[in-house]
Amino acid sequence: MLGADSLILAVETSCDDTSVALLGGERELLGHVIATQDMHVGFGGVVPEVASRAQLQVIDTVVERALAQAAVRLGDVTAFAVTAGPGLIGSLLVGLNWVKAAAYALSRPFLGIHHMEGHLFATALEDDAAQPPFVALLVSGGHTLLLFAEAWGRYRLLGQTRDDAAGEAFDKVARLLGLGYPGGPAIERLAREGEPDRQPFSVPMVKAGQQPHDDDYYDMSFSGLKTAVLMRVRELKAQEGLDDEIAHLAAGFQRAAVDQLVEKTLRAVKETGCARVVLGGGVARNQTLAETVRRRLPPAGQVFVPSPRLATDNAAMVARAAYFRLGCGERSGLDLNARADLPMPGIV
Ligand code: KG4
Ligand code: ZN
Repeated sequence: MLGADSLILAVETSCDDTSVALLGGERELLGHVIATQDMHVGFGGVVPEVASRAQLQVIDTVVERALAQAAVRLGDVTAFAVTAGPGLIGSLLVGLNWVKAAAYALSRPFLGIHHMEGHLFATALEDDAAQPPFVALLVSGGHTLLLFAEAWGRYRLLGQTRDDAAGEAFDKVARLLGLGYPGGPAIERLAREGEPDRQPFSVPMVKAGQQPHDDDYYDMSFSGLKTAVLMRVRELKAQEGLDDEIAHLAAGFQRAAVDQLVEKTLRAVKETGCARVVLGGGVARNQTLAETVRRRLPPAGQVFVPSPRLATDNAAMVARAAYFRLGCGERSGLDLNARADLPMPGIV
C-alpha cells in the first residue's frame, strides 16, 4: 500500500480526450480535468493525427488546470501515472512522453497503466464496496471484456467480443441512422422515443443449450447485428419509409446489443456464484444497460455503475489503478514505450 499522503498525478490520452487527475491517497480526487475534442464530429469518428496534435497543444494547460483545482504544485506530486496502452499510438505517446519528462525532471517514480484496468478501477473511486471479487463487464469504444476479478491484479478472462467492440457498434449504427458522433448517447436518446418491438433484431451469440465450456458461452459479437441494421435501413430507404422508423431502429438495436451484454454477464454471475457486478467503460453510461443488469440480478446481487464522468475515458481511474500497482512496488523505466495493443495485465 502507498501511504495516505501519496499524491499521484495521472495522465490519460489513449483516444481523443486529454485528462489529468490528482489523487490524494487511495480515493481523494483533488483535481480532475477532462478536455474533450469536438473537431471529430464532422468526420463521424476520431481522426488519430488530428487528435494527437490537439493533445500536444493542450496538455500543459490541462495539467495546470488540474494542479490549480487541487491547489498543489507539480513539486508536491509523489508519483506519476499514465495510460501506456491500448489506444491510438500518437495520442498515447503525448501523455507518456509528458509523464516521463516530468518524472525524470523531478526524480519521481512513474508507472504505465493499461487503459482497461483503469476502467476496472473507476467504481472503486466512488464506492468503497466496489472491491473484488466481482464480475466485470468492461464496454468501451475499443474493447468488450467480461472478467471475473478474483482480487485486484488477478483477473479471469471469461469472454470478449469476436469482432466490433460494443461502443464501436453503437457508433457505427448511429452513423447508419444519420446520428452524430459519439453514437452511444445519440442512440440512447432516440431509443427512448422508439418501440423495440417495431424493429426487432435477434440477440447475437445467445442460443439455447450453450454450455459453460463452449467457446461461444461468454463471447460476444456485434458485427452481424450492425449488418442486420444496415440491411433493414436499405429496405426501408427503398420503400421511402426510413424517417418514420429511425427511433424504432435505435430502440431495436439497443435492446439486442444490451440483451447480449446482460445475458453474458448473468451467465458469469451464475457460473462464478458471485452476484456482484462492476460496469466500466463508455457504454456503462447507458441507463438501459445498468437497469437491465440490476433488474435481472438475484435480489441479493449488487451492481456498481460508475458516474458518467468516470465511465468514459478519464485520468482519475488511471490514478486509482496506479495507486494499487505502485503500492505493490511496481515502477516503469524510462524505456517504457506505448503499445496500441498492450495486453491486459493480471490475466490468470
Ligand atoms: O471508454 P470510452 O470513453 O472510450 C474508449 O476507451 O473507447 O468509450 C467510448 C464509447 C463510444 O463508443 C461511445 O459511443 C460509447 O462509449 N458510449 C455509449 C454511451 N455513452 C458513450 N454507448 C451507449 N450508450 C451510451 N449512453
Ligand atoms: Zn476507455
